[in-house]
Amino acid sequence: MFETLKPQPADKILALMQMYRDDPRADKIDLGVGVYKNAEGVTPVMRAIKAAEHKLWEEQTSKAYVGLAGDPAYSDAMIKLILGDAVARGNIAAAATPGGTGAVRQAFELIKLANPSARVFVSDPTWPNHLSILKYVGIETVTYRYFDRETRGVNFDAMMEDLKGANKGDVVLLHGCCHNPTGANLNKVQWQEVIALLNERGLIPMIDIAYQGFGDGLEEDALGVRLVASSCPEVLIAASCSKNFGIYRERTGLLMAVSNDAGAQGLNQGTLAFLNRQNYSFPPDHGARLVTMILNDEALRADWAAELEETRLGMLGLRQQLADELQRLTGSDRFGFIAQHRGMFSLLGTTPELVEKMRVDNGIYMVADSRLNIAGLNAQTVPVLAMAIVDAGV
Ligand code: LMR
Repeated sequence: MFETLKPQPADKILALMQMYRDDPRADKIDLGVGVYKNAEGVTPVMRAIKAAEHKLWEEQTSKAYVGLAGDPAYSDAMIKLILGDAVARGNIAAAATPGGTGAVRQAFELIKLANPSARVFVSDPTWPNHLSILKYVGIETVTYRYFDRETRGVNFDAMMEDLKGANKGDVVLLHGCCHNPTGANLNKVQWQEVIALLNERGLIPMIDIAYQGFGDGLEEDALGVRLVASSCPEVLIAASCSKNFGIYRERTGLLMAVSNDAGAQGLNQGTLAFLNRQNYSFPPDHGARLVTMILNDEALRADWAAELEETRLGMLGLRQQLADELQRLTGSDRFGFIAQHRGMFSLLGTTPELVEKMRVDNGIYMVADSRLNIAGLNAQTVPVLAMAIVDAGV
């Protein structure tokens, strides 16, 4: 049997991670995988996570199974964090998943189960694993134009035009905030226009929100997802705690199915539990429990929010420094978009050849599509990157 297996295409983000590890240069700079790093290049355990882990170690008396959808207290806390009061709790089914990727995978499985002929519309570009999982699950994918390679902002007219090609029942995958890989995001008016189009054409929104708190703030970053959830009849939301709680390896995510028909909640909840059972049975609990403890404890929550805010402001500072440095070196504003983008990533909008040149000449690792992870920089490496960008002729 094994001899029939074929090598699978490498995930370009993970392949880059390995190349970086194998590079012996001491001054190499990792702007690849979307993992936050502080100025010392460390991905810290957040203070509130450490405190919650300590408390959990002292207080937890059992490691018995929790439930197929995870602990309802985790769903409640996350729903409140993401949706605020936008939707009544009784209209939301939710299940814990192994990371945001687990939520994305389960959402695609649910789409396939509910409507095998639905197509999923994804932004061009999107996180490469969206495309890979969609293909693996066997769902037809259609791309909609999103990124304007001239302005490096959202090409909103083109996006709307392409979404008009979707049919009733098709799913439109949107990034809740901090678009990955571009860093270019919809504003409030654009969200409202997208919602009007979704409702007019009977399209189902699916929102992937993996960076809440990394863009304009915890509340501000939830604006789009709250508008969609309160305005569309049915919505799927895949959320991740990897980045904003810094618990990448704990695999902590949540899938929500929102319906404006409260009567659908029972069936939706049962379906989410069923999908968990088929794929991995009980979802991981450790990270979800820490998140729940933090969100439900005033002091821990305040400390977590403060550290997250420091992280966000640090990334904004690096964005501004890089844009300023490039302005100084080129005498033009053409890199001003770096300060306008939000979240961990910006798409430089250059060719794979120039990205490769910067890797070979300067030991700078960014994804071939020219996505750079702002959090991989610090005040000392910003000028090095700016010079490399200019030298490469980006
Ligand atoms: C990324 O886009 O780099 C992150 O979401 C990590 C991953 O799994 O690809």
